[in-house]
Amino acid sequence: MEIAIRSWRLEDAADLAVALNNKRVQDNLRDGIPYPYEKSHAEDFIRSMLSADGNKVWAWAITADDRAIGSIGVFRKENIHSRTGEMGYYVSEPYWGRGIGTAAVRAACKYIFGNTDIIRIFAEPFAHNRASCRILEKAGFSFEGTMRKNAVKNGEVLDMKLYALVRD
Ligand SMILES: CC(C)(COP(=O)(O)OP(=O)(O)OC[C@H]1O[C@@H](n2cnc3c(N)ncnc32)[C@H](O)[C@@H]1OP(=O)(O)O)[C@@H](O)C(=O)NCCC(=O)NCCS
Repeated sequence: MEIAIRSWRLEDAADLAVALNNKRVQDNLRDGIPYPYEKSHAEDFIRSMLSADGNKVWAWAITADDRAIGSIGVFRKENIHSRTGEMGYYVSEPYWGRGIGTAAVRAACKYIFGNTDIIRIFAEPFAHNRASCRILEKAGFSFEGTMRKNAVKNGEVLDMKLYALVRD
């Protein structure tokens, strides 16, 4: 199985919908993503990524043998944080635990530091999201602290962990 990250294609919509139409994935993400998540939602998302400002949004499909099995993106922040990018990602559940998330995070960071002026990439997993914290650690991110009671998700008040990777 060849794992890669590549630009989105509209034909990825059906595969993306399969990956994201999963509560165990969505429970670890921010609110605002439709559930159930249908192909039309995936098409809207892909279109918005393809038309986004290429100097502010870098979004990729995570692929296995060229089929989308996940998503990863880095989003430039604003104002004094304009050289900081926030990273978000997910992998379709049947593919968890095979090193794919770690490989995708590494590849995305390599691209960002090699091709943009971003000097800091951060991610903010829920504190209980051990897999996400682990892949950030494996990809070389530093743990910068716990943001206490930083979110309400599914009616529960949650701590989040701040991880960052800075350009050498
Ligand atoms: C987080 C996510 C991207 C990880 O992807 P993945 O491809 O399974 O990650 P990897 O296989 O590269 O690595 C997972 C690591 O977490 C570890 N892990 C998984 N579940 C764990 C748990 N419950 N407790 C502790 N460690 C755990 C694995 O053992 C592995 O570490 P290891 O290589 O040291 O053994 C995937 O689980 C996912 O999409 N989750 C839902 C969405 C999400 O959480 N996105 C991130 C939001 S911040």
